[in-house]
Amino acid sequence: MKIVFSRPGLPETGVIALGVLDGRRLTPTAGLLDKKLNGGLKRAVKAGTFKGDRDQGLTLLAPGGGKLDRVFLFGLGKAGDLDALAMQAVGGRLYAALATKGHAEATVVVEGLKGCKMSADEMAAELAYGARLRSYRFDKYRTKEKPENKPSLKSLKILCEGAVKARRAFAVKDKVAEGVFLTRDLVSEPSNVLYPATLARKAKALGRLGVQVQVMGEAQMKKLGMGALLGVGQGSARESKLVVMKWNGAPKKSVKAPIAFVGKGVTFDTGGISLKPSGGMEDMKWDMGGAGVVIGLMKSLAGRKAKVNAVGVIGLVENMPSSTAQRPGDIVTSMSGQTIEVLNTDAEGRLVLADALWYCKEKFKPRFMVDLATLTGAIIVCLGSKKAGLFSNNDELAGRIEDSAKTVGEAVWRLPMGDEYDRMLKSDAADMKNISGGRGAGSITAAQFLARFVEETPWAHLDIAGVTWSKTDDPTVPKGGTAFGVRLLDRLVADHYEGK
Ligand code: BES
Ligand code: MN
Ligand code: ZN
Repeated sequence: MKIVFSRPGLPETGVIALGVLDGRRLTPTAGLLDKKLNGGLKRAVKAGTFKGDRDQGLTLLAPGGGKLDRVFLFGLGKAGDLDALAMQAVGGRLYAALATKGHAEATVVVEGLKGCKMSADEMAAELAYGARLRSYRFDKYRTKEKPENKPSLKSLKILCEGAVKARRAFAVKDKVAEGVFLTRDLVSEPSNVLYPATLARKAKALGRLGVQVQVMGEAQMKKLGMGALLGVGQGSARESKLVVMKWNGAPKKSVKAPIAFVGKGVTFDTGGISLKPSGGMEDMKWDMGGAGVVIGLMKSLAGRKAKVNAVGVIGLVENMPSSTAQRPGDIVTSMSGQTIEVLNTDAEGRLVLADALWYCKEKFKPRFMVDLATLTGAIIVCLGSKKAGLFSNNDELAGRIEDSAKTVGEAVWRLPMGDEYDRMLKSDAADMKNISGGRGAGSITAAQFLARFVEETPWAHLDIAGVTWSKTDDPTVPKGGTAFGVRLLDRLVADHYEGK
């Protein structure tokens, strides 16, 4: 969908969308149209339950007294409550209301409002961003869908004061959306198509944007001593990979050490010999969600030419049961030299991250590491599907992540860590075991396991098992792969690490 910005006005034909404030108050241009329609808009608004609340919309088809085909009134709520997230939600809902109605074009009027913190151009850019985010679809394998069920909307025109400014602000946000869409594509792909080698190839494609991408295979990882990661992949016919992505956008005078993002990339998680039950196992195609976010994030940073040095490290494996698979009770030696007793082959994400985190820390001495992983079912029990679990050894980093999360509307909740949990990983046979064996605190003990591979590096871990896939439509996130984490971490970079 094309999104364009243009001078204020009131089109006389086609499809037009206009705002209404709480208490059924028409915005100025809506008032103007109401006059042209001899009071028709006000009458329509009064006739039903539409009050101008932010989640409401009202459609008028071909209202008499004019030549418009469709007028869509969208609720804005209270002007004083409108902020970036609210405008994004308005844009997302507006897209959903207009996308499949048979029209190729629609025009939205965005106006400065009394008592509103945002200018018209800011509101317009956020509305556009929300519409863009909602417009994502993964339909490449649906060959028989009826045309009337596909989105018809090809062009969204936004009329506002300061259109040039709005266009410029939106262009940056649109780069973030491109990263979000890449991540959504990756988590949506089935595992017969997306496996370590093909996922590595998708990362490699970021080379076009100036990202340096290096792909390591099993031989190289073996030399590095990555016994934990390799153990997980050894049951699969697909070769495991480790991908390193580097974006060097920092200005000459700023800090050289990079910031780092590390992702769990299990392209399918059967559980291995500790096999998962078959019901719902198809969800495990998105067990590479963490890696998907890191790739999408790198695309966003490179796309908008972020003034920062950032590295992305993703461990890519397929967790399969076979005659070569790792067995419960096996003891592996990680790159750090620490040995791990693998008591459950389904607790594989932490084994992959152990080597990816250690490698990242040793190789790049980063300012911080943030890892993302669909790590535990327990985090879904704990937080459900709207908040990710946050764990950290550093209050400043954790605080910044919490702030960025609020700003972009990707919620996190910090959970505790401590020696009492670390102790639960004690093994009789090796330096540690990969499950606690007890019943409680499964997400915390998983984080505690990771902490053993980051040492003093400021680090945060996001357990995104609950938020990576959505079963319902949200205003800016259609159901399916959410790309949770891309906007959050892009914001973290923009607010704290660019040009510094
Ligand atoms: N990939 C799963 C976690 C998961 C579960 C993600 C549901 C998304 C939805 C992970 O590898 C796993 O299997 N974790 C185990 C750990 C357990 C064996 C200690 C789990 O959560 O059951
Ligand atoms: Mn697993
Ligand atoms: Zn897994």
